[in-house]
Amino acid sequence: MDVQNILVTGGAGYIGSHVLVALIASGYNPLVIDNFTNSSKKSIQNCQKITGKLIEVVEGDVGDVEILENLFTQKNISAVIHLAALKSVNESCVEPLKYFKNNVANTLTLVEAMKRNGVHNLIFSSSAAVYGNASVIPLTENCHTKPTNPYGASKLMCEEILKSLVTTCDGQGSDPWKIVNLRYFNPVGAHESGTIGENPRGAPANLVPYICEVANGHQERLKVYGDDYNTPDGTGLRDYIHIMDLAKGHVSALNWILKLEKNEKCCEVINLGVGRGISVFEMVKRFEAITGINIPLKVTERRPGDVAESYSSAGKAYSLLGWKTEYSLDQMLGSAWLWRSNYPRGYE
Ligand code: WQD
Repeated sequence: MDVQNILVTGGAGYIGSHVLVALIASGYNPLVIDNFTNSSKKSIQNCQKITGKLIEVVEGDVGDVEILENLFTQKNISAVIHLAALKSVNESCVEPLKYFKNNVANTLTLVEAMKRNGVHNLIFSSSAAVYGNASVIPLTENCHTKPTNPYGASKLMCEEILKSLVTTCDGQGSDPWKIVNLRYFNPVGAHESGTIGENPRGAPANLVPYICEVANGHQERLKVYGDDYNTPDGTGLRDYIHIMDLAKGHVSALNWILKLEKNEKCCEVINLGVGRGISVFEMVKRFEAITGINIPLKVTERRPGDVAESYSSAGKAYSLLGWKTEYSLDQMLGSAWLWRSNYPRGYE
């Protein structure tokens, strides 16, 4: 069978670059559209070195109708994996309109272009942020969604838009929409080569990249955002998942969609997590144990928008897709540190 072309929006980013590696390893041919506002062409070069494959890249914004039209008319695209989005909880609280424009408006532009060109297979990058303060733990896909910040709200709005493509007239006909919304928990770590990884602009907001910045001396200490939560050690619990497990989850979802009958429609929501909550203190202790590096701490006030605990029940991903995580916490932290050690300042 011909190699299938998969359009990956935001393919040069942290999630995107690892998804490219996983797609190629599974025999797909990824095409990338990326505006490089929060990513680097170096990640594409390193993906090419890891896979030995050339990766076609179109520099541009997912909101650019002309670029999308050219892509869909010139390339035979079997499916789209839509990763391009803004993802900082803090920033979304400061600039909400930027998040709704980028994350929601651009998703609308993309699915309109897909519809015009008869491409109805879509994997959407959603987030555990749609759940907000967990009503039930562990979180299953049918738990109540009540995001506590514009970032999570933008992701939930996209899920609602995509659901309407299947529940309304768009969902009829001989080739209806086939959509999977993947709700990421906390992706961490890097590919085993240590040549692609999380490359935030400026001081990182997320825990593991910040710990690495303390470990390499770029930051003096880790601020622990509150140790007075109702959790075993008082700090926030999160479901950390290795980025390569997350990337393989995208391929499992794509394989599942492409195996459906042509006249089948779907819009599934699937959690991608390990199914276990780990605290901030536990993460620091594990990092120190495997690297031998001391991480100075300072407990400060809680961070606005944070929840006490967020971790998944990952049963549906296994029962529907046959996907489950394979990497350990030590591999998550060890690979994150290898990446940071190889690229202390990220891709320059
Ligand atoms: C983890 C824990 C903090 C930094 C966010 C998004 C989520 C996803 C991942 C996209 C919390 C604590 C953190 C620090 C700390 N993004 N912490 N000191 O906020 O759970 O999730 O990023 O999908 O949608 O919401 O991740 O790594 O920022 O925080 O104490 O310097 O570490 O309070 O308990 P978060 P995080």
